[in-house]
Amino acid sequence: MCGIVGAIGERNMTPILLEGLRRLEYRGYDSAGIVTLDQRDNQLHRVRTVGKVQTLAERLQQEPARGSLGLAHTRWATHGEPSERNAHPHLSNNSIAVVHNGIIENYQELKTKLTAAGYQFVSDTDTEVVAHLTDQHLRQNGGDLLAAVRQTAAQLTGAYSLGVMCRDDPDRLIAARAGSPLVLGIGIEEHFIASDVFALVPVTQSFVFLEEGDIAEVQRERFTIYDRDGNAVERPLSYAGQMGGTAGKSGYRHFMLKEIFEQPTVVAETLEGRVHQGRLLEDSFGPEAGPLFDQVQGVHIVACGTSYHAGLVARYWLENLGIPCTVEVASEYRYRRSVTPPNTLFVTISQSGETADTLAALRAAKERGYLTTLAICNVAESSLVRESALTLLTRAGREIGVASTKAFTTQLVALRLLALLLGRCHGLSESDETALARDLELLPKALERALALHEAIERMAESFAEKHHALFLGRGPQYPIAMEGALKLKEISYIHAEAYPAGELKHGPLALVDADMPVVCVLPKDGLLEKVLSNLQEVRARGGELFLFADSEVDTHLSGVSTHVLSLGAVPESIAPIVFTVPLQLLAYHVAILKGTDVDQPRNLAKSVTVE
Ligand code: G6P
Repeated sequence: MCGIVGAIGERNMTPILLEGLRRLEYRGYDSAGIVTLDQRDNQLHRVRTVGKVQTLAERLQQEPARGSLGLAHTRWATHGEPSERNAHPHLSNNSIAVVHNGIIENYQELKTKLTAAGYQFVSDTDTEVVAHLTDQHLRQNGGDLLAAVRQTAAQLTGAYSLGVMCRDDPDRLIAARAGSPLVLGIGIEEHFIASDVFALVPVTQSFVFLEEGDIAEVQRERFTIYDRDGNAVERPLSYAGQMGGTAGKSGYRHFMLKEIFEQPTVVAETLEGRVHQGRLLEDSFGPEAGPLFDQVQGVHIVACGTSYHAGLVARYWLENLGIPCTVEVASEYRYRRSVTPPNTLFVTISQSGETADTLAALRAAKERGYLTTLAICNVAESSLVRESALTLLTRAGREIGVASTKAFTTQLVALRLLALLLGRCHGLSESDETALARDLELLPKALERALALHEAIERMAESFAEKHHALFLGRGPQYPIAMEGALKLKEISYIHAEAYPAGELKHGPLALVDADMPVVCVLPKDGLLEKVLSNLQEVRARGGELFLFADSEVDTHLSGVSTHVLSLGAVPESIAPIVFTVPLQLLAYHVAILKGTDVDQPRNLAKSVTVE
C-alpha cells in the first residue's frame, strides 16, 4: 500500500504535496519522493529519500524542488527493496513522471517488450513500466498525454491508481483509478489528487471520488473525468462536511476504519510509561497493586462481547505462565453460584465501563470473597473504574464505531502486561520477562505491517460479499482471535460466521464445508502450526476455499486457486494474537462496505449496553 498526492495550480505546490504525504504515511513510509515542474527552467525536479516523509522534507531544505505542478508518493515496497532507486516518482526520458499505488501484475511481460524497444530500466519496480509505456505512446501519438495514459492503462493488469505528468505538457496532470482509491480535490483555480480525502483536507473541502476505470484530466481551472469506455462523465461532488463529520473521522470513510488505523498509535500509548527498557513497571496498576499481586494464586475474568474475547486470550497467556485462570461472560456469571478459590483476583474488562452485566458481575463479585478487583477499562470516569479497587486504563481514546477494534487490541496489551507482572510473581525469570516485554515494544510496527494489507484484504473481501456463512479457525490463543474475527463479520456485515478451534473441526463443522463456505484462518508461527495446517488440509480436501493470514516464516504447503494467503511479516509468538486481529477487522470492514451496511452503527446493536 502506498500513498499518492498530486497538485496543479498557480502557487508553489511543494508544501501542499509534503503535507499530503505526511497525512498518507499510514499507507506506507519506507521511502518517499516528489517531482515538480519548475516553470523557471521547464525541467522536472525530483527528490527521493529512503525512510519517512520527514526525511524527504529535510532533504528538500538542501535540495529544493518547487513548481505549480507536482506529484508525490509515500511508499510501502512491493516490487523492489525500499531504496532511493525504487522510490517514486519514476521517470522516463526525464520527461514523464509517474506515481503509482497498487500492483501491475503483467509488468514483467511489458518490461521485456519495452527493453527490446530500447528503454533502460533503472529500478526493480513494477511502476517503471508505466512511465516508459506512457512515453512510448506519447511519442507515437504526437504528444497527447491523456491519450497516452489511456493507451497505457489499457495494457495494464492489476490494481492501481496513477498520477502522471509530463515536462512538455505543463498544463495538466492525469489521474487513473483501477482497483486502488483515488480522489480529486477541487480548489479555486487549482486541483489536487490523492489516495484519500484526509491528505487534502488542509487545502479543500470539495471532493470527487473517481470510480473504477476512470481517467481524469486535471487542469488548473477545470477537470474532466472519462469512464472506462472513454466517455466524459460527471461524478458527484462530496463535501468534507457532509461526509458525516470528516473532522471526527479524520477523512476516513467510517469511524471504524479510522479506529482500526489508530491501533499502532493507541497501542504505543497504552504501553507508554508501563514498559521501560524491557522491564514492566508494577506501579502501572497503582501503588497498592504490587503487594496484592504477590498474593494472587488465580484470576477470574468477566466481561461481555469483544471484551470477553480479550479475556479468553488472557487465559492462554496467564496459564502459560502458571497462573490458573477462568473466563466467563458477565451475564452468566452474575446469576450463577460460583466458587472462589483463595487469593483469586477478579478482573473485569470493558471499553465503556458502563456495561450493565459487567457492572452487576463486579458488584456480585464483591460479595464472593475475592482477593481484590481490577478493572481494565478505557474510560477513566466510568462506574466500573470507580467501583473497582485497582484499575489499568487502556488508552485507546474515544471509540465511536459500535464494532470494537482499537479498544480490543489495547485491552490485549493491558492483559499482556497483567500476565507478565503476575508471571513475575510466579517465577518468570528476569531475562524471559525482558524478552517478552521487548516483543511488546515491537507491536506498533507489527500492527503497521498488518494494516499495510488493507488493499489486499479489500480485494479478498469480494469473495465474501455473496456468501451467507463463514467459518473462522484458530488454535491456542488464536482461537479467541478467530471468535473475534467471526464476531466482527457478524456485527457489521450480517453474514453468519462461526469460530472453531481448528482441531474441533472434524467433530462436526467439517460437514458444513463446501465451496460456499469460506474458511478463514490465522497462522502465526507457533507450536501448533503443523497441527493447524493439517486441519486446513482437511478443509481443502472437502473443496473449501481458504483465506489465510500467515506469518511470513510460515510455509503453508497449500496452494491452488482455492487458497488465498496474505503475509503479515514475522510476528513474535507472544504478541501474535494482537497483530493477527487486524486483518480480521479489515476483512469484516470491507465485506460490510461491499454489502452496503451501516458500518459504524450496525442494526440492532449499541456501543454501550447499559441495560440488562
Ligand atoms: C456491546 C458492544 C460491543 C462490546 C460490548 C461490551 O455489545 O456492541 O462492541 O464489546 O458491548 O462493551 P464494553 O464497553 O463493556 O467493552
